[in-house]
Amino acid sequence: MRSSHAWLIFIAALGLAFLVTTVIQTETGYLVPSPPLPQRVHRPPSPLAAPPAPITTPGPPSSWEQFYAFLEEIQPCKKLLKVGGPSGSSSDGSKSLCLDAGFELQPGACTVLSFGINNEWSFDDAMERRGCTVYAFDPSMDVKDHTRGHNIHFYQLGVSNIRKRVMFNTLQGQLDTYSAILRKINATERVIDFLKMDVEGAEIQFFEDVLAHNVSLLANVKQIGMEIHPNVDINRRDQLWRYMHHLAALNFQLVSMEPNRWSLIGGRTGRQTSNSYELAWVNRKFRL
Ligand SMILES: *[C@@H]1O[C@H](CO)[C@@H](O)[C@H](O)[C@H]1NC(C)=O
Ligand SMILES: *[C@@H]1O[C@H](CO)[C@@H](O)[C@H](O)[C@H]1NC(C)=O
Repeated sequence: MRSSHAWLIFIAALGLAFLVTTVIQTETGYLVPSPPLPQRVHRPPSPLAAPPAPITTPGPPSSWEQFYAFLEEIQPCKKLLKVGGPSGSSSDGSKSLCLDAGFELQPGACTVLSFGINNEWSFDDAMERRGCTVYAFDPSMDVKDHTRGHNIHFYQLGVSNIRKRVMFNTLQGQLDTYSAILRKINATERVIDFLKMDVEGAEIQFFEDVLAHNVSLLANVKQIGMEIHPNVDINRRDQLWRYMHHLAALNFQLVSMEPNRWSLIGGRTGRQTSNSYELAWVNRKFRL
């Protein structure tokens, strides 16, 4: 009798002690270590199968101020040149070209992609004069595929994230992915000396597709000159912010930034701000 009572008390005490320690342990966040998992055989990943290092981009900017300040983080380019733009007052249509060591254009061995023409050929003509082969694209002007000058090849085609047809006023236009467009002109493996893009907002679809599916195609690109269109839209701003950080992680450095002075929106955050910005990046790790 006495010994079975003692046992019961002993077991109850043990139970209570267990309960108390469990509660304390979980409350302090301390967890009992689980038994070790069976050791897995270590196989080094084959270099071919190794996935690319994940790109981490910061969360969205907390304000327009932070977004504009990021656009102002310009890295040096010693020989920065304006190319194109109609002579006269307007600077719209000109692009910044960096001609520092490693970025010179070799006449006869130079390829330019030019998305968004809008019947303004000054950039394309200037790049042809510098000895480049220019592939020009615009789905929104009523002009069929043709060759301009000797070395400007025009396609009535636009860039997007998928292949689709869209209406530009009364004109039906064809859009396709960057990868498919490069295939069409046999330029998938080609070094692209300059990628120009002035596509009224479709740069978002371009980035969305290329950065997700064909980031290796950007490794062939030496410079990018692009007009971005954040307007006053927070979603567009945050997408562009993410894509621009992704570009930075791929070693594209911003070397030029100018607010488009035809779409200024007044002195937000104490600066002269615009609905659109002309940006230029150089690929600092090109084929290194
Ligand atoms: C691409 O290559 C194919 C096959 O060699 C050829 O038929 C086509 O004309 C080429 N296209 C361009 C734009 O050079
Ligand atoms: C681009 O990505 C798409 C989708 O993953 C793929 O089908 C295509 O072959 C890629 N293009 C190139 C040139 O790598």
